[in-house]
Amino acid sequence: DFANALIDRLPKAELHLHIEGTLEPELMLTLAKRNKVQLPYESVEDVAKAYEFDCLQDFLDLYYMGMSVLQTERDFHDLTWAYLLKVKADGLTHVEMFFDPQAHTDRGISFETVLGGIVLALEQANRELGITSKLIMCFLRHLPEEQAFDALECACKHKDHIFAVGLDSSEKGFPPPLFERVFAAARGEGFTPVAHVGEEGTAENVREGLDLLKIERIDHGNQALSDPELTARLARQQTPLTMCPLSNLRLKGIPTLGHSPVKRAMDAGLLVTVNSDDPSYFGGYLNDNYRAIHQALDLSEKDIIKLAKNSFAASFISDSEKQAHI
Ligand code: HPA
Ligand code: ZN
Repeated sequence: DFANALIDRLPKAELHLHIEGTLEPELMLTLAKRNKVQLPYESVEDVAKAYEFDCLQDFLDLYYMGMSVLQTERDFHDLTWAYLLKVKADGLTHVEMFFDPQAHTDRGISFETVLGGIVLALEQANRELGITSKLIMCFLRHLPEEQAFDALECACKHKDHIFAVGLDSSEKGFPPPLFERVFAAARGEGFTPVAHVGEEGTAENVREGLDLLKIERIDHGNQALSDPELTARLARQQTPLTMCPLSNLRLKGIPTLGHSPVKRAMDAGLLVTVNSDDPSYFGGYLNDNYRAIHQALDLSEKDIIKLAKNSFAASFISDSEKQAHI
């Protein structure tokens, strides 16, 4: 219908996307064979059946296992290129993409192998698909601060390709104060700070992200809406939030899509965006997320246009580049 056609043709940016979370079961099995990696899955159906999650940690366990098939620069290129081709058809013209280097260096894959493959695909997408991009290197919050500093040291050699630093993995038990020093060092090196906060954690985690890590964008941030004072602050400051409706549903942060906070955040005057997070694991890419909330939250065409415009307003591209995209 009309809304679906509108969603398909609107130019959009995606600002919350883990490249390792785009690994489709078929590519996972192909790479397992190519690289002789053992997986507990025989078929695409086996993989699909395993993707029933009760919480964030349930997902993370399979996410880290799945990415063990990624070994060579070519693997990282193929993974990234497959995502870019897919979302080109969704009207995506800009992406700010997370990657998790510690999940790879921890198992003996070099930082340069990971970054090299991703960058090759992003440059190819710029030339051949007209998609622009920025890379966000995430620290894994379940690992010690010292290892985050190691990742930062690697990133400093590649400032031409890495724009921002983020914080992801298990939120419960690993709050922002643990990463205050490494974020200060990263900001000192010129990286723009963002973090996953208020996904499974609390509004207090969101506040700590802002006040201790000095984040310039909030990834998820659902729980911020439980705190009226914080909500008012986010509206006043226009701090962007990158929300992920299908992710919230599949990780049981919300019981149904009708409970997605996207519309409430819009109505509260927040700069909110819609994103896919880990599309292969959560059952939908960018436009699937737009379609899902259009239906579940009864969004108007005006709301959909607003969300697409917000995706550029909330991005880290310059104002003149924003104009070129809209
Ligand atoms: N939350 C936290 N960590 C993650 C996620 C997420 O949704 N996806 C990949 N790492
Ligand atoms: Zn995420």
